[in-house]
Amino acid sequence: MYSFEKIKSHYGFTNGDVRNLEQLRPVMERNVVDFVTEFYGFVKNLSDSDKFLKNDTIIRRHQDSLKVWFLRLFCGNYNRRYFDELEKVGLAHVKINLPAHYVNTAMHFVKSYVHDTINKEFKDLEECAFLERSVGKILDMNLDIFTSTYIEEEKKFFLSQRLESYLIQFANRFTYGLNLLLVGGLVIMGIGVMWLFTYDVMHVLDGNVEKALLRTLGSLLMLWVVIELMETEVKHLKGGKFKIKVFISVALVAVIRKILVTSLKTDAVEAQLSLVAAVAVLGVVYWLIAKVDG
Ligand code: HEM
Repeated sequence: MYSFEKIKSHYGFTNGDVRNLEQLRPVMERNVVDFVTEFYGFVKNLSDSDKFLKNDTIIRRHQDSLKVWFLRLFCGNYNRRYFDELEKVGLAHVKINLPAHYVNTAMHFVKSYVHDTINKEFKDLEECAFLERSVGKILDMNLDIFTSTYIEEEKKFFLSQRLESYLIQFANRFTYGLNLLLVGGLVIMGIGVMWLFTYDVMHVLDGNVEKALLRTLGSLLMLWVVIELMETEVKHLKGGKFKIKVFISVALVAVIRKILVTSLKTDAVEAQLSLVAAVAVLGVVYWLIAKVDG
């Protein structure tokens, strides 16, 4: 980014401009509340602006910052600190991913607002034009800094921007490929569980109905888990949030199935107790995660 002296000289910003802006200060101080109201009337009409101005706290904070920024346009002291502050404002917008287009249109509104105010307050047309020229320069310099922060942020890279963007693209595709592989694996697992289910049902033919029913129940639980895993994975591939609680449900079902199987052996009481304790712990973890995850 250029030094603030260079920026001022590129815009032909002179002491005359400083005096003009200072002359406008009392007028703008009288209009600052109206400015913020009008600014918000304009911004509210921009589509999706509520995505950024999410709640009353943010709006109030933004309105206060806006007042300070507006009055500083006419402060008469355009030193390094002034430009550093502008960079911070630019970065605040970059940080929330506010499209640069919004800042440009809002700045267009500010320019019209200040011009209208000057025309209302000053009758001499030549004087109006003279004052408007200075306002134009300071607003253009502001927009220049705001836009530069977007470009500077885009330029951040470690070795080569091109190489890094290829690498990121490749990593993205690779991850997508791995996810598809995972879906394939889950489909095979689903088929495996269905086979297990049939195998367990076959135990009825041996005459051992209790064993067959308990084992079948276990494999049904596993089938349910595979379905859950597959659903989560497909939703994730479509851009949804990944639900960690599914992993806990896998562990829960695995332990429950083990309990069902060991319950057939009368001498495995100790093993059963530890499995019940594991289910209790996993149940609590599942409940806690479900509360947070929703
Ligand atoms: C001329 C145009 C604009 C100016 C001069 C401006 C000014 C400012 C200032 C001074 C800040 C505070 C920066 C800091 O914390 O250091 C800020 C932050 C912010 N701006 Fe703007 N803004 C403009 C346009 C917009 C637009 C169009 C939107 C939304 C549609 C927007 C949304 C925000 C938000 C969400 C923050 C962060 C608020 C917070 O959480 O504190 N701004 N802006």
